[in-house]
Amino acid sequence: MSDMQREIERRRTFAIISHPDAGKTTLTEKFLLYGGAIQLAGSVKGKAAARHAVSDWMELEKQRGISITASVLQFEYEGFCINILDTPGHQDFSEDTYRTLMAADSAVMVIDAAKGIEPQTRKLFRICAMRHIPIFTFINKLDRDSRSPYDLLDELETEFGIGTYPMNWPIGSGVDFKGVYDREKNTVLAYQDFHKGSQRIHALECPIDDRDAIRELIGERLESTLADDIELLDGAGYEFDREAVQNGRLSPVFFGSALMNFGVEQFLESFLKLTTAPLARETQEEIVDPFDPHFSAFVFKIQANMNKAHRDRIAFMRICSGKFERNTEYWHVQGKKPIKLAQPQQMMAESREIVDEAYAGDIIGVFDPGIYSIGDTICDKDRRVCFDGIPTFAPEHFAIFERKDTLKRKQFETGIRQIAQEGAIQIFHDPNSGLEEVIVGVVGVLQFEVLEYRLRTEYSTEVRRRDMPQEHLRYIQGECDPAELELLRDTRWVQDFKGNNLLLFTGEWGVAWTEKQNPGLQLTEFSKNW
Ligand code: G4P
Repeated sequence: MSDMQREIERRRTFAIISHPDAGKTTLTEKFLLYGGAIQLAGSVKGKAAARHAVSDWMELEKQRGISITASVLQFEYEGFCINILDTPGHQDFSEDTYRTLMAADSAVMVIDAAKGIEPQTRKLFRICAMRHIPIFTFINKLDRDSRSPYDLLDELETEFGIGTYPMNWPIGSGVDFKGVYDREKNTVLAYQDFHKGSQRIHALECPIDDRDAIRELIGERLESTLADDIELLDGAGYEFDREAVQNGRLSPVFFGSALMNFGVEQFLESFLKLTTAPLARETQEEIVDPFDPHFSAFVFKIQANMNKAHRDRIAFMRICSGKFERNTEYWHVQGKKPIKLAQPQQMMAESREIVDEAYAGDIIGVFDPGIYSIGDTICDKDRRVCFDGIPTFAPEHFAIFERKDTLKRKQFETGIRQIAQEGAIQIFHDPNSGLEEVIVGVVGVLQFEVLEYRLRTEYSTEVRRRDMPQEHLRYIQGECDPAELELLRDTRWVQDFKGNNLLLFTGEWGVAWTEKQNPGLQLTEFSKNW
């Protein structure tokens, strides 16, 4: 095995998802602690110390003028090189999250044991299931009163339509929480809260057959409940099927408490055993093997204004194959140009470092002078591939934007184009009315305000906005002259900046009417590029 293969083999790249407050940050901190990537000061107050460590790191980022969103973290753990992709925890589902999931090989879902599935988790989970990536569930906060584990598993199964396999089983919860039963090892791991999670402590283990010792540890009542639970678990439910886990059809479920540092280590070790090294990626022509020595990567996130004064942007790319080397000239497929990736950086737990080399599975952030768009491919000059773009959600709100100051044309155009490249807005124009006005489509209306604000502050351009009544977008497929179509008065023909023709409708029924009136017309929700 070559050095490169060895490096790729030990990579594990996953996204961590949860509804806000379920404990994603706390769990991530514990992972970093185990990896030795952060040192928690003392053993007094776990949470306070952990917060402190992370806020220091944010401060560092601020000083360097980089955004504080912890998009990616890399750390080492027992020979593995782990990349965690954080997903934004906004209440509003954002496309950013979706794209981040495209860059991961598996997902860890954190659920609050008292609350179960919450709206945010529901949407995210569905996306993981769509991609068939393995999903590992960590049911958190067992040190607080929790819902019945049976209920929680049932909810996961019925809501998401995939199987669950409890890897461990909680013994009580809240003040009664005594630990977990490890189904693989057949032991009870006893919970003691004296360390409050600030240190890595191995839990006291007791074999399940030693009933007296178990009774002593967890009490007679819980011992008897546990015996019943084990019988039920072993007798019913899914068999553990590794392949089903790897295809995203069966989610291994772990119970624990991130804050109290209980069950985290078992989780991490099991997860690393069951998850995969970087997966192959498909293009339209071929499957790109991660171990192929030729470098290839795709851009999944663009983050602007890390430094406002310089309008700088960082394009995050997931390496799909081979090895990245700094100062090598690569090929930007969409730009049709050779390119050197400027200031390639990687986010280690506590710092951002310029990287000289990185491997398939890794995420690097490169300085973007405004040339990349979401979904772009960067690859070896002599071995060109092109990954399928990342599908975007169809916008549901549209507005016409024009600049107030006629002299600011360049700023207006550059600003709107660059912001569109980041993926939060999509832009169109009316083929009959020139380029003075831009039609902007967004998924959430808040993006209109963000756009106005950013054009004003970053591009010194005041704009006027007129909201449009249309809410549905369809691409016109095939050979067809849109000018010849029979359309309702409130249907609008527009083009995107790749020249694709689209129709905007006020209602779904308008779509059906138009299809009926124009036999042969093919309308789709996605453009043919996706
Ligand atoms: P998030 O990233 O998913 O949004 O959640 P985060 O880790 O920030 O945790 C949200 C809250 O839940 C925090 O409390 C955190 O301490 C708490 N928490 C996380 N894991 C556990 C757990 O296993 N048990 C218990 N009991 N609590 C847990 P907070 O009150 O919001 O933080 P603070 O205001 O006290 O700092």
